[in-house]
Amino acid sequence: MPPKHFLQLKDFSRDELDYLFARTRWIKDRFKRYEIYQPLRDRTLAMVFEKASTRTRVSFEAGMNQLGGIAINLNRGDTQLSRGEPIEDLARVISRMVDVVMIRTFEQPIIERFAAHSRVPVINGLTNEYHPCQILADIYTFIEHRGSIQGKTVAWVGDSNNVCNTWLQAAMVFDFAVHVSTPPGYEVAPDGPDARGNRHYESFSDPAEACAGAHLVTTDVWTSMGFEAENDQRRQAFAQWKVDAAMMSRAQPDALFMHCLPAHRGEEVAAEVLDGPQSVVWDEAENRLHAQKALLEYLVCGRIDDAAHP
Ligand code: CP
Ligand code: NVA
Repeated sequence: MPPKHFLQLKDFSRDELDYLFARTRWIKDRFKRYEIYQPLRDRTLAMVFEKASTRTRVSFEAGMNQLGGIAINLNRGDTQLSRGEPIEDLARVISRMVDVVMIRTFEQPIIERFAAHSRVPVINGLTNEYHPCQILADIYTFIEHRGSIQGKTVAWVGDSNNVCNTWLQAAMVFDFAVHVSTPPGYEVAPDGPDARGNRHYESFSDPAEACAGAHLVTTDVWTSMGFEAENDQRRQAFAQWKVDAAMMSRAQPDALFMHCLPAHRGEEVAAEVLDGPQSVVWDEAENRLHAQKALLEYLVCGRIDDAAHP
């Protein structure tokens, strides 16, 4: 049987994602009580980074160690990828040596080619198109603070990037609304794979309108990794797509604010919001650790019966 991969959020069913959230809670509770839980003893995670990272690197490496395994970090420049070794050959080789692989790279087809040649599960640690581990943590964080996300409204303000695309997929899986506002020229492609036929998604030209009545307001950097050449042009185009207190006041009074981080205070988010009482960005970042431990456990061990691990 081919291994199960997590390349996009929609690779997992609603049932699998609900199971992961239950495991996330179980794993997080035990971690907070300093209880050792090591189902991945003698297991190895390889992490391939073709872009920079803080949270993804630390959460996967710490998580793998806490589960009893080890993580090997491979930055592109230190590997033979930088000297032209094909990604398919990297997949063939390292998947004979480790139990699971996490990759952060550029175009989605790169990770798909890797997965097609891997003997072990592959996790998307961010591509230009998707960031499914982030949205796992974000939805878990929403549930922790507010309960089920079903039927709620999420406002996305800013670039139609990898995180935005993953919210569009999540809305279909979890049955909530996503209101997206981007500057002209940076819209979600209406016939793209995540917008076409997606009745949970609505586009707004005015970011404040997108936030009206929302239960969660979220944004991300104006310029994602790999698009740095567009920085100056984007700074001008996105100037009005900044989440500030006035924009938050259009949302529900108890609306949460999220940002995958790293953030640029004064650009896509005002410091008063990022550091304000509605912001849950630090919980969101921490939950990367717990959610990904549940993901690693599931991909390596399959479903765990709670009774077997009291
Ligand atoms: N949010 C996120 O993925 O952060 P890093 O780029 O630091 O990994
Ligand atoms: N959209 C951002 C997310 C960083 C975690 C990027 O791709 O750079």
